[in-house]
Amino acid sequence: MTLHGPGAATGDLEARAVRWIQHRLAGTGAGVVGDPGALTAALAGSVTDAGLGLDGAWRMFADVAAPNNVGLDSNRFLAFIPCSPSAAAVWMDAIVGTANFSGEAWLEAAGAIAAEQHVLQFLADQAGLPAGAGGCFMSGGSIGNLSALAVAREQAGERRTVVVADTAHASVHNALHLLGLRSLVVDTGHDCRLTGAAIRAATAGRTDITAIVASAGSTNAGVIDDLSGCADAADELNAWLHVDGAYGLAAMLLPELRSQFAGIERADSFIVDPHKWLFAPVGSCALFYRDPALAAAVHTQHGPYIESIRTGDGTYNPSDLGYQLTRRASGLPLWFALALHGVDAHRKAIRAGVHLAAQMADALDACPTTQLVMRPTLGVVLFRRDGWGRAEWQRWAADVLAAGIAFVAPTTHRGEPVGRLVFMHPLTPPSVVSELIAGLR
Ligand SMILES: Cc1ncc(COP(=O)(O)O)c(C=O)c1O
Repeated sequence: MTLHGPGAATGDLEARAVRWIQHRLAGTGAGVVGDPGALTAALAGSVTDAGLGLDGAWRMFADVAAPNNVGLDSNRFLAFIPCSPSAAAVWMDAIVGTANFSGEAWLEAAGAIAAEQHVLQFLADQAGLPAGAGGCFMSGGSIGNLSALAVAREQAGERRTVVVADTAHASVHNALHLLGLRSLVVDTGHDCRLTGAAIRAATAGRTDITAIVASAGSTNAGVIDDLSGCADAADELNAWLHVDGAYGLAAMLLPELRSQFAGIERADSFIVDPHKWLFAPVGSCALFYRDPALAAAVHTQHGPYIESIRTGDGTYNPSDLGYQLTRRASGLPLWFALALHGVDAHRKAIRAGVHLAAQMADALDACPTTQLVMRPTLGVVLFRRDGWGRAEWQRWAADVLAAGIAFVAPTTHRGEPVGRLVFMHPLTPPSVVSELIAGLR
């Protein structure tokens, strides 16, 4: 029995795997949260000296590991930040995993990196970054934020305070903690939007500001900060401007929303996650720097076993620009889907979420028992229901899931329990709006 090569003892695993992927791509439900005791019991004995053989191992996967998950890729998953990968991106991701394009160094994966670079250049151009800007793909937004803020810290000498909005994603706070940086949390007020004026008021007289972190689509409410105002404030403070666009920056591709992102072209660094609103599978963040040389000075790893990847011929190594060394070529699925379907098809898919969020907002406005917290710009809708507190919201989420309408997760807004819906999957049926409203009346 062999593990590798044409003689690998895998039986008809290929056919099973392809069938499984095809079935998943045809659509999936909201899924379930597995029971810890039952899962532990069911998986007991799955790793043995002799192995279970294909039928036994596949049963463990298909009957235990696979079904006991929530389907973030379901078109009825409206919680957290969903993941709605396109069919093309999923298949290319399977190929990337098979080929193990080792995306850290040009020497190892020139073709894959060149394709990734092509899509990075496209996104940098869309943002309006100047010539010479560049970046790399990392595994996710948290690593992207950490990598960028590590570069920001290096530019700041002894200054150690970073301005963050009270709406910043948790990964920003984690990154600052890991980097030994302090956060200066700025209150964003009723519209949840970080502005230059608010930053100026909070930093008056201070000389210790390293960086400003703004959001291009906050996680909880989908609010795009005043990026131009943040860039002005960063100039005045001689501070780095990082924009966390992990969720929302994909919407800059829509001409009708592009002006909301004005100022992104002035960022020193920013991220956008293909595994969020660019329809790539989990594991992909596009990280950009206005001046990649500053990033290379921070992130380049050295060692006798690795110096040969520096070929000195002007090619670049993604691992020099971010925290990861060995790296899946996680930009390839997005590149391939763009190459196959074109940008317009992606614009249309993003727009579907924006439109459905607007329809949901209209319906909540018209419903006598609900009020919007704010009008959505992107795909996130926050709303109140008369008389509902935490317990009622939890019951609503359970009822809506049990009825097969959607997977939803309530949140809080300024400490108040509220409803939250995130529209991303282009095939979410518009009927979900009336189905949800029925349970809110
Ligand atoms: C705005 C924002 N930034 C960063 C992150 C973290 O990204 P990841 O989960 O890919 O690490 C998220 C995740 O939802 C996010 O919404």
